[in-house]
Amino acid sequence: MTITILAAVARNGVIGVAGDLPWKISEDLKRVKRLTTGHVLVMGRRTYESIGRPLPGRSTVVVTRHPAWSAEGVHVAASVPDALRLAASLDDEIFVFGGADIYAQTLDLAHRLELTEVQDAPEGDTYFPAVDWSQWREVTRERHDGFDFVTYERDTTPRASAPAT
Ligand SMILES: NC(=O)c1ccc[n+]([C@@H]2O[C@H](COP(=O)([O-])OP(=O)(O)OC[C@H]3O[C@@H](n4cnc5c(N)ncnc54)[C@H](OP(=O)(O)O)[C@@H]3O)[C@@H](O)[C@H]2O)c1
Repeated sequence: MTITILAAVARNGVIGVAGDLPWKISEDLKRVKRLTTGHVLVMGRRTYESIGRPLPGRSTVVVTRHPAWSAEGVHVAASVPDALRLAASLDDEIFVFGGADIYAQTLDLAHRLELTEVQDAPEGDTYFPAVDWSQWREVTRERHDGFDFVTYERDTTPRASAPAT
């Protein structure tokens, strides 16, 4: 089972504004579709409501603390571990689809980051969590006009320990 965090992140860490994305990048939407079709998405209730419907060709698990919340065609989980368990029962490839709240709670568990690094610093109110980059290595970078598609994998290279003194 693989957990991949999928996000578009500006230079200043912004990922959202007023419940929506701060940009419209059609190539990014196409990439998201290409990467996630046939797999399962885990997202927070606010991100789900900003999209407003389940994305076709993918299973959707929405995390919410409201036991009565439901939406047609969507699985609901009451916690992040429950969401990941449910997602794992649906597909081997789990994509964490945001937002900030859910990224922060899954970053330590993720195997891969699929980031769109947006070369801009827009105003926003929602930020990607701080990443300890010493734990990640860049494996591919595809440059575009105004943004890069970048894949990071968790760095499992053994580190030399400091010599005993
Ligand atoms: N740039 C990107 O790639 C990207 C991707 C996704 C989203 N976004 C943006 O991010 C913003 C939304 O992000 P957000 O951080 O505000 O919200 P979010 O992470 O989408 O959703 C937060 C909600 O998830 C539920 N939740 C979180 N932790 C939980 C837990 N441990 N147990 C149970 N439920 C839990 C709660 O729902 P309840 O309140 O229902 O209990 C909480 O209010 C929007 O602006 C959106 O456009 C950007």
